[in-house]
Amino acid sequence: MKAVAFFEHGSVDVLQYHEDFPDPVAGKNEVIIDIKYCGINHLDIWTRQGIVAETGKKIRLPHICGCDIVGTTTAINGQRVMIYPGVSCGKCQYCISSSNRTTTRRSRRRNNNNGNDNKRENLCSQFAIIGGWSDYNGGYAERVAVPEKNVIRLPSALKDETAATLAVSYLTAWNMLQTNGASRNKKILVYGASSGVGMATIQLAKALGATVITTVSDNSKHGFAKKLGAHHIIDRTRQDIVEEVKKIVPAGVDIVIDHVGAATWATSIAALRQGGRMAVCGTTSGNEATVPVRMFYTKQIIMVGSLLGTRAQLQELINFVIRKKIQPVIDSVFTLQDAKEAQKKMEAGLHAGKILLRL
Ligand SMILES: NC(=O)c1ccc[n+]([C@@H]2O[C@H](COP(=O)([O-])OP(=O)(O)OC[C@H]3O[C@@H](n4cnc5c(N)ncnc54)[C@H](OP(=O)(O)O)[C@@H]3O)[C@@H](O)[C@H]2O)c1
Ligand SMILES: [Zn+2]
Repeated sequence: MKAVAFFEHGSVDVLQYHEDFPDPVAGKNEVIIDIKYCGINHLDIWTRQGIVAETGKKIRLPHICGCDIVGTTTAINGQRVMIYPGVSCGKCQYCISSSNRTTTRRSRRRNNNNGNDNKRENLCSQFAIIGGWSDYNGGYAERVAVPEKNVIRLPSALKDETAATLAVSYLTAWNMLQTNGASRNKKILVYGASSGVGMATIQLAKALGATVITTVSDNSKHGFAKKLGAHHIIDRTRQDIVEEVKKIVPAGVDIVIDHVGAATWATSIAALRQGGRMAVCGTTSGNEATVPVRMFYTKQIIMVGSLLGTRAQLQELINFVIRKKIQPVIDSVFTLQDAKEAQKKMEAGLHAGKILLRL
């Protein structure tokens, strides 16, 4: 099959396009997906560079990136599907659903959740991401083998392109917003309106009734943030983020969504109100942050780390996106041969919205 793989970690040049990459073979309880779209995430860059595991665990090479997979599967009569990218041990306390013991098969089917409501599989110590830091190949290919339980049928109201944006950026944003109580009248600061996580947070938080303050790094991105509907936009290249936030909300914001890491942790703590919540999911600017400890504890800030979300949360998100008619913005669509160009664009920060590969 056609695929873009890397045989060693490194710069974008390690990505190799192959027309005769071995076809995936479905293992026990796995199905083959014929891929139509694969969304690109910053995680693909980390995976390719080999920067992920705090655990020191290595992944099998060659590896195929791509965690936002949409396609069809003959295993369910050519049904349109998307893939929940999380895989876990299936045995620990976080992987086992208590609702499995309390609900009937029929009620689980009615809710389309396989009884997963109380699962926190993303807390599993074995949690890994298909196409990311795991031995599962991902979506930069014509076909992929995935566990059957990760397959989610796409409702007709959800376009393939939209579905290919949801399973990483939107799911993580949804998890952070839900976990930290985003709701009507809450004031939320999120960096990088044009990023996957930034755009997702703006759209989802707005739809939840929150007021959103965001940041951009140039004029074209300012227009993009405005179109998305952000209530307040700060140009981080010429304005002081904390000063601007305090002009808008003198007491500070209720929640900061921080996917930037080292460069923004101190800003996030300073921009929060007393007892505010800081949701952390990324290290785009670096892994080693300096924290103003005194300010952190006197404000009694609650900091919550977030890794993707659960399968049940993805199902909930899909329903929400359809109900609220949320339209993720697609920056550009690349062919598989041009996957390298697509990653280059993301690495240079030239995108505004999601980048997709079309197979
Ligand atoms: N934990 C999880 O499960 C999870 C899930 C999804 C993503 N993530 C992580 O979240 C991060 C974002 O992912 P993505 O796919 O949305 O990335 P992306 O689309 O490439 O966006 C990166 C953004 O970072 C912003 N940025 C960089 N340096 C900044 C700074 N000093 N101050 C403010 N903003 C800055 C840029 O904003 P400007 O436009 O202002 O330059 C850009 O919009 C990545 O680190 C990714 O690995 C984690
Ligand atoms: Zn587990």
